Amino acid sequence: MEAVITLLPGDGIGPEVTDSAVAVLSEVASQFDHNFNFDTQLIGGAAIDARADPLPAATIASCEAADAVFLGAVGGPKWSDPNAKIRPEQGLLKLRAVLGVYANIRPVKVYAELVGASPLRPEILAGVDMIVVRELIGGIYFGKKTRDATTASDLCTYSVDEIERILRVAAKLASGRDGKICSVDKANVLETSRLWRDVTDRLIPAEFPNIELETLLVDAAAMHLLSRPADFDVIVTENMFGDILTDEASMLAGSLGMLPSASIGDGVCGLYEPIHGSAPDIAGQGIANPCAAIASVAMLLRHSLGLENEAVAVERAIGRAISAGARTADIVSSGETRISTSAMCNEIIRALD
Ligand code: IPM
Ligand code: MG
Repeated sequence: MEAVITLLPGDGIGPEVTDSAVAVLSEVASQFDHNFNFDTQLIGGAAIDARADPLPAATIASCEAADAVFLGAVGGPKWSDPNAKIRPEQGLLKLRAVLGVYANIRPVKVYAELVGASPLRPEILAGVDMIVVRELIGGIYFGKKTRDATTASDLCTYSVDEIERILRVAAKLASGRDGKICSVDKANVLETSRLWRDVTDRLIPAEFPNIELETLLVDAAAMHLLSRPADFDVIVTENMFGDILTDEASMLAGSLGMLPSASIGDGVCGLYEPIHGSAPDIAGQGIANPCAAIASVAMLLRHSLGLENEAVAVERAIGRAISAGARTADIVSSGETRISTSAMCNEIIRALD
């Protein structure tokens, strides 16, 4: 097939892991006889430096014309002045909104070989395989913000429509898995969460009678994620809770460098990015873990290009490379050799067939 993929390397380790993503996509194209055309554009701090705009018009135009968008990471200390009017993250948030990608799908898979990389005990990690579905273009991230000399506020709003559509994405995913949804809110305190819970309690039994529904308050969910992670199948939650809980959940997998994500809306074009940030502390050293980026490529192949076999091949290659002992610094255990970003990527490409 022919496909156009916009690449947004961004900042910090973003360009390094994007190189790995492109290498894997190119290998998939040659092995499976596809033609992927890449269009590289600016976002985040790199775009602020070059265009004084974290999401230039050319970037938006390219993404809107593409079949899929791959993003590395945005942000860094250079652009982190708390008083700055323009920030790299604004580019990413605006892009998510412009593309209408309201559902952020974050699978949390634990490779048996990597249990030693997690701070949790192996018996707690056995059987962990969940997907967090994070609402991505609503809630406190997008509400009105105010600030004066002494006070600041961030407004959190959710509508029934926004809650219904994310619940449907989660329920459809759960239907193809173990059929369990855990909806996470803060309904004992927040009005938006009370609406979220009302809609959930009504919609799930009515539209998905076979789904087993559990609801948890976010503070309890943060604890249950560590005490009984294997019980979860699909977790669905609002924007900010999903952001926080997935960084926590990455420790089940051993590293933030392992978790991919797909952000999708009602169209086919999706935005694919590792959940990790720009990691300025290790940027430019060639030691970042490309697994999250490469697993995001698998999601891109599956969700935006409809290439399920290719997606499975990439996922299997990651598993094989890990089984064969390939480890970047973030997932290395004592006695193991740590390899570079490009060496890890090459191991995965070698395992791709
Ligand atoms: C993520 C990131 C972003 C978010 C930042 C970079 C704005 O943490 O994708 O999880 O908070 O959504
Ligand atoms: Mg985050």
